[in-house]
Amino acid sequence: MEPAARQETGREKLLIRALKGAAVERPPVWLMRQAGRYLPEYRELRARAGSFLNLCYTPELAAEVTLQPLRRFAFDGAILFADLPLLADALGQKLDYREGEGPVLEPVRDEAALAQLSMARMHDRLGPVYETVRRLRRQLPEEVTLIGFAGAPWTLATYMVQGRGSQDHAEAKRWAFRDEVGFGRLIHLLVDATTEYLSRQIEAGAEAVQIFDSWASAMPEAGFARWCIEPVGMIVRRLKSRHPHVPVIAFPRAVGIFYAGFAEATGADAVGIDSCMPLSFAQKLQKSCTVQGNLDPQLLAVGGEPMRRESARILEMLGRGRFVFNLGHGILPDTPPEHVGALVEQVRAWRP
Ligand code: CP3
Repeated sequence: MEPAARQETGREKLLIRALKGAAVERPPVWLMRQAGRYLPEYRELRARAGSFLNLCYTPELAAEVTLQPLRRFAFDGAILFADLPLLADALGQKLDYREGEGPVLEPVRDEAALAQLSMARMHDRLGPVYETVRRLRRQLPEEVTLIGFAGAPWTLATYMVQGRGSQDHAEAKRWAFRDEVGFGRLIHLLVDATTEYLSRQIEAGAEAVQIFDSWASAMPEAGFARWCIEPVGMIVRRLKSRHPHVPVIAFPRAVGIFYAGFAEATGADAVGIDSCMPLSFAQKLQKSCTVQGNLDPQLLAVGGEPMRRESARILEMLGRGRFVFNLGHGILPDTPPEHVGALVEQVRAWRP
């Protein structure tokens, strides 16, 4: 069990305190996909790395990419640079990245393919990711919180079953609806593997973790309970029993009214909300957990007065409750870096 993330002053870091629901001097800020293609220095390193997988699996490069945005902007958090499908790769599923297409996997659609997956060698394959975390803890500024992450079982399963990103997640949904037992085996493997993966990240130095359920909104009510709430809840409870001081952020993206009760049902300390959630509804969620979000990434790309106005509205509505400023989804690749700088300054200058 590791002690809570503290600065040398002995005080817990701002982002950690906000995630745990303490009253804070100002809302912390970090942005999903804060490392990546909108930064010229990322594109340069990415080209030098040869492949995206090589970038993710080379600790020196992955740590450097994580640090790049911190050199430009005063974020309160740094998110480990890795990618969501790496866990599938570590379980033995063939993973590749194609230019302009994102992750491509050899689809797992039946029990025979499922039987080929195993946790036996996952930590060997993921060793470089844990090493990246260790390096980052040595290299990050003292006040910055290091955030580990993983995909939620449902969202990772959509990629593993479909074999690539899709709009309708048809193959994963049909398997889940047709054969609960078989699909349940895949989800349970992912619950076990994700728990071990995040535990290792925490043991290597991650001070908070985020679970991305980017495609949670694809499921109807019963499916959401069974394939999103239940597995994420199992992971959170297991992590909490091993690492009680480490806050967990869950991001079941765009699930609307299903956000109500989600934090209680899963035990997550914080929930990430998308840009379409009404702030008056988000205020109600703040009574039971920290809310993280939800500036529209397109507003960050536009910048200027429209961005400033909406950010001010979010701060006024949510900034006095349990809150972490973020986007509703990741930074878009064509976002001018100056807009990120202006946003971070605005959030840091605001006071409750
Ligand atoms: O700064 C950070 O946020 C840290 C790193 C990070 C990446 N992906 C790097 C990345 C994180 C946290 C992720 C999470 C991720 N990956 C999610 C969940 C969040 C979300 O966006 O919904 C998902 C669904 C993925 C899967 C994935 N990886 C897709 C669909 C793609 C292609 C589309 C895209 O946005 O590029 C990737 C590739 C990827 N992951 C890149 C980066 C920087 C681009 C790779 C490149 O340089 O070409």
